[in-house]
Amino acid sequence: MYQIYPRSFQDSNGDGIGDLRGIVDRLDYLAWLGVDAFWLSPIYPSPLADFGYDVSDYTEIHPQLGTLDDFDTLVEEAHQKGLRVLLDLIPCHTSIEHRWFGRHPDWYIWSPIDGPPNNWVSVFGGSAWSRDDVSGRWYLHTFYPEQPDLDWRNPELVEAMQNVVRFWLDRGVDGFRVDAVNVLVKDAELRDDPPAAKPFPFPLHEDAARLDHVYSANRPEVTGALRSLRDAAGDALLVGEVYLPTAEYQRYLEVLDLVFAFELLFSAWGSASLAAAIGPAAALKRAAWVLSNHDFDRIASRVGEASVRAAAELLFTLPGAAFMYQGDEIGLPNGPGADPPRDRAGRDPMRHPMQWDASPTGGFTTGEPWLPLIDPQRWNVKAQCANPTSLLHFYRHLIQSRRNLGPGFRLRDPEPGRLAYERDGSLVTIETSGD
Ligand code: GLC
Ligand code: CA
Repeated sequence: MYQIYPRSFQDSNGDGIGDLRGIVDRLDYLAWLGVDAFWLSPIYPSPLADFGYDVSDYTEIHPQLGTLDDFDTLVEEAHQKGLRVLLDLIPCHTSIEHRWFGRHPDWYIWSPIDGPPNNWVSVFGGSAWSRDDVSGRWYLHTFYPEQPDLDWRNPELVEAMQNVVRFWLDRGVDGFRVDAVNVLVKDAELRDDPPAAKPFPFPLHEDAARLDHVYSANRPEVTGALRSLRDAAGDALLVGEVYLPTAEYQRYLEVLDLVFAFELLFSAWGSASLAAAIGPAAALKRAAWVLSNHDFDRIASRVGEASVRAAAELLFTLPGAAFMYQGDEIGLPNGPGADPPRDRAGRDPMRHPMQWDASPTGGFTTGEPWLPLIDPQRWNVKAQCANPTSLLHFYRHLIQSRRNLGPGFRLRDPEPGRLAYERDGSLVTIETSGD
């Protein structure tokens, strides 16, 4: 599966912002690369406080990205080329500008007192509670204050979100990447999170790292909420973003088809660390392997340029679904971002536009790109297409070859500098930097 960050994939009208028509124009590229499906990061109307993860209308298209007609064209042409389409579903929160916030305040989570009712903190730091200027009441926001959390204990909200799922399925989508699933349901009594007893294994804002998020997140009741999504989704693919270690995935996999294997995404590039991340996730059988996305370092920046081929080989020879992020196939590193930053949480460096050719705007746009290009002469699709020994061709080769791999998988004991596993008789060895 190929993750598209729509604003940065292909601009079709010269406004410097990638759009749906641009994606249509690049479907042949995705078909050539050989992926089965693509996941679109949010395409809905949004005031862009969190670049689309703050949705102000779940059943429309952001005007900068196109129209519902464009979307229908995209789905139709993708399907004609054998590509399936996954959308990003953001059920945890809306934009504060969503009409629901004013019209259906009881679909959101409010403090029962005049002030924050507990010590919960936002993923981006600071209290997770803010005062609504209109009502004077305090609402919960697990992410930015512009993203009030929805109350999954309210059956009307559940039904509204089920209707969102049905709306897109009726338009032909094949599944959803479900955002922030581990924080979908919170403690009904809003109890304080206790202090963290041990460090959380993934990157976390220092405010969040002080607490053990047992009440603000990862509640057992989440399974019920996910079941209602499943009821609406039928057998469409649901892949969950569960920002937790593998040991916590079971309750999510009761309903979801796949869960991203974050331990792999954050593993050090050493054989023992990788083996420790891969073993338990592989045992679940339904890990979605992933090494990068729009939130965290690009592969080339994380493992180093010398290891990008080894990382690709790992990603595409592990057993089960693999997700790749646009641009990694040409070795794009993190970029410089923008000044002033677009994303307040510092994620611009991973969101620079796709570089299609060596021209100054990389074939991405004829206008002024919303984020600058990195270095289109050094990294671009056109040049790598023309060169059979390029990283891009290596990706294509791996994507083709993985179709011949059976389900068998056995990890060997890691040796320093070398991770090895058997796939139905063939041995895969991945060079790592130390252990
Ligand atoms: C997910 C998205 C991230 C977003 C957050 C809040 O983690 O990947 O980009 O900021 O959810 O919706
Ligand atoms: Ca555009």
